[in-house]
Amino acid sequence: MSEQVLKSEAGQHNLMDYAKTYNNFDWEEAKKAFSWYETGKVNMAYEAIDRHAETAEKKDQVALYYESPDRKESYTFDQLKKMSNQFANVLKEHGVKKGDRVFMFIPRSPEFYASFFGILKVGAVAGPLFEAFMEQAVKDRLEDSEASVLVTTPELLGRVPENELPKLEKVVLVGEKVEADGRYIDYHAEMKQASEEFDIEWVDLEDGLVLHYTSGSTGKPKGVYHVHHAMIQHYQTGKWVLDLQDDDVYWCTADPGWVTGTSYGIFAPWLNGVTNVVVGGRFSPEAWYGALDRYNVTVWYSAPTAFRKLMSAGKEEIKKHDLSSLRHIMSVGEPLNPEVIHWGMKAFDLRIHDTWWMTETGAQLICNYPTVDIRPGSMGKPIPGVTASIVDDQGNELPPNQMGNLAIKEGWPAMMRKILNRPEKYQSYFVNGWYVSGDSAYRDEDGYFWFQGRVDDVINTSGERVGPFEVESKLIEHEAVAEAGVIGKPHPERGEIVKAFISLNEGYEESDELLEDIRQFVKTGLSAHAAPREVEVSNKIPKTRSGKIMRRLLKARELGLPEGDTSTLEY
Ligand code: PRX
Repeated sequence: MSEQVLKSEAGQHNLMDYAKTYNNFDWEEAKKAFSWYETGKVNMAYEAIDRHAETAEKKDQVALYYESPDRKESYTFDQLKKMSNQFANVLKEHGVKKGDRVFMFIPRSPEFYASFFGILKVGAVAGPLFEAFMEQAVKDRLEDSEASVLVTTPELLGRVPENELPKLEKVVLVGEKVEADGRYIDYHAEMKQASEEFDIEWVDLEDGLVLHYTSGSTGKPKGVYHVHHAMIQHYQTGKWVLDLQDDDVYWCTADPGWVTGTSYGIFAPWLNGVTNVVVGGRFSPEAWYGALDRYNVTVWYSAPTAFRKLMSAGKEEIKKHDLSSLRHIMSVGEPLNPEVIHWGMKAFDLRIHDTWWMTETGAQLICNYPTVDIRPGSMGKPIPGVTASIVDDQGNELPPNQMGNLAIKEGWPAMMRKILNRPEKYQSYFVNGWYVSGDSAYRDEDGYFWFQGRVDDVINTSGERVGPFEVESKLIEHEAVAEAGVIGKPHPERGEIVKAFISLNEGYEESDELLEDIRQFVKTGLSAHAAPREVEVSNKIPKTRSGKIMRRLLKARELGLPEGDTSTLEY
């Protein structure tokens, strides 16, 4: 544990508000910031976009700066309001109604944001997918959610197995040349025709907002279902943790296929009416520092894996840019190494603030928010209105400095409301009134939480959750692979990498070409981030007597750690 304490430079302005609310904070109070507190009628799209477009001060303010290698555009709140109204009209015209699932398999772009809010405006649930997904990953998600409409591009359509998705009725194609017919809708052509006026479908706080699929250690990805109610926490953490001010220019680097890209790439900044930067295309230190510089970004939310890449790119690249606008930096997704915080202090003269939360929790819960001193290596403390603790497997609280399950008392606004189609899975998160996260951690005497690892086998590679079961399932679809066990192996830049142990079917010989072919098979079937970076042939994949792969043992052997209890082992 580091004894060092770092004072934060952000957030001095709301220190008093914060001090007032900390002890007695009640989420009911936060609701009063919204007009629906009186009317009960709510829609996230209205609160995030239209509400600002209706004020003289914000109407013509830039809401979105968009930049990719071949485009540079900006849109005001008023323009986003009109574009999303148009898309809502397109959807309505094609029969989309409240509660329908509309998925989005399209790169980050202005069209993405117009569609996203259009979907919310008709009261449908938005399902953003990573553009890197391949056929199996796309199919699993559209099938489970029974999505009726997909917004995609002609290029990505090839990865959508339409004939295996009977519930998918319409496909909106965003592209230059689109062959539209009854099933395929030409985005640009229909947007041109559509009215810029739309009567928003007002929904209940508990109605569906977004669906994010995320991986566990077993089974297919889980459809984590979030509702409009979450906005209270997005709004409030936008103030407390992101420290957003009216004139901020904010950049969250996460893709909206990931919960960070919606909760903090869309909802929190726009609920707070700030200018939001979106950068498409691939990561490069030049592009990223360039974006911070060009847009005079003031508040920046990214991930350890990106910081580590910037760190290894060296000082020269930073020196080429003026980053003096930057005043607040945050991190999420993986442990934030103290080394990275120290680099951040040298590189930007600012502390990087760690934040902890999960797809399931919908919003930040344990954070180094500006008014809390940072202890490098710690995730910080629970935000007001959230009670966190360390519990044993029965849900009993443990004393300070004892490692156990990181758990949150039920009842924060942004909590998922269900796992789609799997009520028993949802229930399995709760023990004795606590939401049990699957992370292990301890809490020190001063209430700081320290992340120790996952309790299960879930892999975290470059901040993305990879379920070993999914990768194993894909691997054994390859004709050469008999059995597969997949683990996360520590890696200095990516946190962990996916490593696969496989045994080969009769008649197959190990060769570099074969292993590369197997790697590619997962990459093109599932996604690049799930493809094992290392594949090792082993004729002894350890299994329990009931046939379950013992990943724990594979990992212990890989890392040269004690093997622990092997009483159920049978090869
Ligand atoms: O293991 C924790 C890790 O990421 C998991 C959640 O992943 P995901 O649902 O993809 O959402 C990530 C972004 C909200 C957690 O169970 N994790 C997340 N933040 C941190 C972290 N591990 C250590 N420190 C963090 N700050």
